[in-house]
Amino acid sequence: MLGLLHARVLASCGALCHFPLQRIKIAHLGPNERAPSMKFFVDTAEIDDIKELASTGLLDGVTTNPSLIHKSGRDFMEVTKEICGLTDGPVSAEVVALDHETMMKEAEVLRKIADNVCIKVPLTVDGLKTCKALTSEGTMVNVTLCFSANQALLAAKAGATFISPFVGRHDDNGFDGMDLIEDIRLIYDNYLYDTEILVASIRHTTHILESAKIGADVITAPPKVIMGLFKHVLTDKGIEAFMADWAKTGQSIL
Ligand code: E4P
Repeated sequence: MLGLLHARVLASCGALCHFPLQRIKIAHLGPNERAPSMKFFVDTAEIDDIKELASTGLLDGVTTNPSLIHKSGRDFMEVTKEICGLTDGPVSAEVVALDHETMMKEAEVLRKIADNVCIKVPLTVDGLKTCKALTSEGTMVNVTLCFSANQALLAAKAGATFISPFVGRHDDNGFDGMDLIEDIRLIYDNYLYDTEILVASIRHTTHILESAKIGADVITAPPKVIMGLFKHVLTDKGIEAFMADWAKTGQSIL
């Protein structure tokens, strides 16, 4: 991410003199240094889909929510444990209490499921109190249902591991979800917050492309959308033509 910030800084002012020393360092990324890779989480509680994506070696984590658990028809604790065994990455499991005290009790139960459980809390006063308490103890927290850059600023101040802005639901309501991601990226870069921007409520592959261009840290998308990234009509056509010509040679590799 620092590399991206560097590019943005150079493009916008062509000079680095008024930026703090910490940022000036990013102007000197060596040829073998890279900004961290974008992480891919899948937004589902369907075991078969998670297994399929995990087998590609490209899956970095999983997000769930009460609606996805309901859709799966599975027991929350049981399915979360199973998912945690399919990836080494964070698996977001959401609290359902609305008050801080009960959220903490629920988090206590959820974090015992596995070391890679990430507690998901809503962006409310109680949710952020819970976020602060949990991250201070070293527990990963994903702050969900973020719809404004100011909310994302609060989550970063509360020490969130991930902030989940919902781009699709933002679009559905007449706003541009990607504008929100740009604003959050700018604010987090301004203050070098460690909170990772986890673009959520993704509806199509263009949301992922735009997230990568902006420099979001993570995307979480339904399995279908992630699988859609592999597809291109010209790839299919090209394979078809190569296979036809190869057959005409009458040769085999094995
Ligand atoms: C993220 O963590 C949420 O589970 C999810 O992305 C919500 O997406 P939706 O708006 O498609 O329900």
